[in-house]
Amino acid sequence: MNTLGIDIGGSAVKGAPVDTKTGKLLAERLRIEAKGKLTPAQLAAAVAEITRHFRWRGPIGAGFPGVIHGSTIATSANLSKRFIGCDLAALIAGAAATRATVRVINDADAAGIAEMRFGAGRGRKDSVLVLTLGTGVGSAMFFNGQLFPNTEFGHLPSGGHSIEKDVAAAARKLQDLSWSEWGRRLGDYIRTLEKLVAPACIIIGGGVSARHEKFFKYLKTRAPVVPAEFLNEAGIAGAALHAAAAGEGAK
Ligand code: BGC
Repeated sequence: MNTLGIDIGGSAVKGAPVDTKTGKLLAERLRIEAKGKLTPAQLAAAVAEITRHFRWRGPIGAGFPGVIHGSTIATSANLSKRFIGCDLAALIAGAAATRATVRVINDADAAGIAEMRFGAGRGRKDSVLVLTLGTGVGSAMFFNGQLFPNTEFGHLPSGGHSIEKDVAAAARKLQDLSWSEWGRRLGDYIRTLEKLVAPACIIIGGGVSARHEKFFKYLKTRAPVVPAEFLNEAGIAGAALHAAAAGEGAK
């Protein structure tokens, strides 16, 4: 069933209807810029705008940048701390004024689902690490096509803070790093992850993956690194795929 996918991010809330049989977006996504750190009230307003824009009445899937237990947000590193403890599915259902299914998931797990099903990881049964590079660093781990949810490899401690502050795509811009400086840092980080989880393949997503030829050459990893195929639409597509799969399971 077609499902509205929503990607809640550090700089914007994005949404589009998704054909869950192909993973393709059925319309151009609507992007609503966040003003400062997104709050639950701002998210509710954005969801209302997105559902109105697409005249959406059907099921909804949303990805959030934090640990999600059931439908409750457990962490919120880069958005308002007021999200912690929120029932995200209830918040979205209320804002969209819908009784249709609403399912929520970590944003990187969502992106990983899209890549494993229809993108760079399709058909892979071995262990795959997906990293999304944006405001923060998101991670998703798969084995035999199955997700191990809520990995938070962007929060590996480094110098008293989370390593995502140094290796996210945002860090390159904020710290004014060259592609080679950033790429080498990112390579060190990924090689540390390889020591910990030894993936057979690494998929790099986030908007910056479109410019992979600028930095993949500096990564020097053991496992092959490939760019995400969905680029920055994986979060929307994967959130919708997750909701559709959960909806089928519930029938
Ligand atoms: C969050 C993760 C999220 C990542 C990418 C991190 O700060 O803790 O849950 O996947 O950012 O958005």
